[in-house]
Amino acid sequence: MKLLVTGGAGFIGSAVVRQAIRDGHAVVNLDKLTYAACLENVADVSDHANYTFVQADICDRAALDSILADHQPDAIMHLAAESHVDRSIDGPGEFIITNINGTYTMLEAARAYWEGRGKPDDFRFHHISTDEVFGSLGKTGMFTEDTSYDPRSPYSASKASSDHLVRAWHETYGLPVVLSNCSNNYGPYHFPEKLIPVVILNALAGKPIPIYGAGDNIRDWLYVEDHADALLTVVQKGALGRSYNIGGENEATNLDLVRMICAVLDTKKPGTAPYADLITFVTDRPGHDARYAIDPQRISTELGWRPSVTLEQGLEKTVQWYLDNEAWWKPLQARDGVGVRLGTKA
Ligand SMILES: NC(=O)c1ccc[n+]([C@@H]2O[C@H](COP(=O)([O-])OP(=O)(O)OC[C@H]3O[C@@H](n4cnc5c(N)ncnc54)[C@H](O)[C@@H]3O)[C@@H](O)[C@H]2O)c1
Repeated sequence: MKLLVTGGAGFIGSAVVRQAIRDGHAVVNLDKLTYAACLENVADVSDHANYTFVQADICDRAALDSILADHQPDAIMHLAAESHVDRSIDGPGEFIITNINGTYTMLEAARAYWEGRGKPDDFRFHHISTDEVFGSLGKTGMFTEDTSYDPRSPYSASKASSDHLVRAWHETYGLPVVLSNCSNNYGPYHFPEKLIPVVILNALAGKPIPIYGAGDNIRDWLYVEDHADALLTVVQKGALGRSYNIGGENEATNLDLVRMICAVLDTKKPGTAPYADLITFVTDRPGHDARYAIDPQRISTELGWRPSVTLEQGLEKTVQWYLDNEAWWKPLQARDGVGVRLGTKA
């Protein structure tokens, strides 16, 4: 297949690009290269004959039209977004522009391209979204594809809006779409402003490891390479107009997660004291959702997909990757906003 991947220089998009090339697909990686992007994420495949990079903004309709006309993809995998909840609290405007207007522009460009080719049934617009659109769970229950939307942060509200637009373009114009909503990802090339890299890098630097509130918020952690595998399954086998929840079957409180990372570091790079001694509780994020959990029944029964690693195995690989790849993360720590507390301007 020839895939147009938006946001392919980001964390998850780059995992999709790397795996798609390994699987024999051709990939056009479309990315604006914002503060969150890093072309080193795709360095492993950037010389491959099946790989092309184009720098473009998903809000730029003329650029999208010419990229689609030039490259003629069989499917679009749309991951480009502003993705950091804390940044959305301090500056929601960019999230509205990129996640809502950008998705609208992508949909209109995709529609014109698809209609211009005679509306082929096998074209796909795959919209990649988050479980955060469903809001916050209590101690029990799980998000299914039928859970009502209840976004609570500017980030999740902008993603929820984009999901609604994608469904509307399917119902109204017949655009052949498929959607997926997934839980928190972690793994190699995770930008160093997100929780798991912050924990690893602060621990290695002997700095306090910040935990929001009491650390009792629960997330369902998914290893990024498992997510890439799920996304490539959904784009190829997902039913038209259907959405799929993707989870790691790995629920943990933030405090337990941080303690697990510290324990892995204690084994791999022992310090003078246990790394968990660096844990420091800080003021909670405003509107911090209590619990997310994914019911993965649909993707597992209909598409035969399941995660391949447990949280313990994934964290072990992730910690080892950060230990081995200082040359990747060190320069990123100098980027604007990294290493400072964001999301306090509510
Ligand atoms: N990270 C997670 O845990 C998670 C979980 C569920 C869903 N998602 C979704 O997956 C997608 C990718 O997330 P991520 O964590 O890889 O994000 P990321 O922030 O690491 O990467 C986003 C990429 O999109 C690009 N981009 C941003 N604005 C753009 C624009 N206007 N035009 C073109 N490119 C632009 C950036 O340059 C960057 O390379 C997002 O849609 C996000 O909502 C993420």
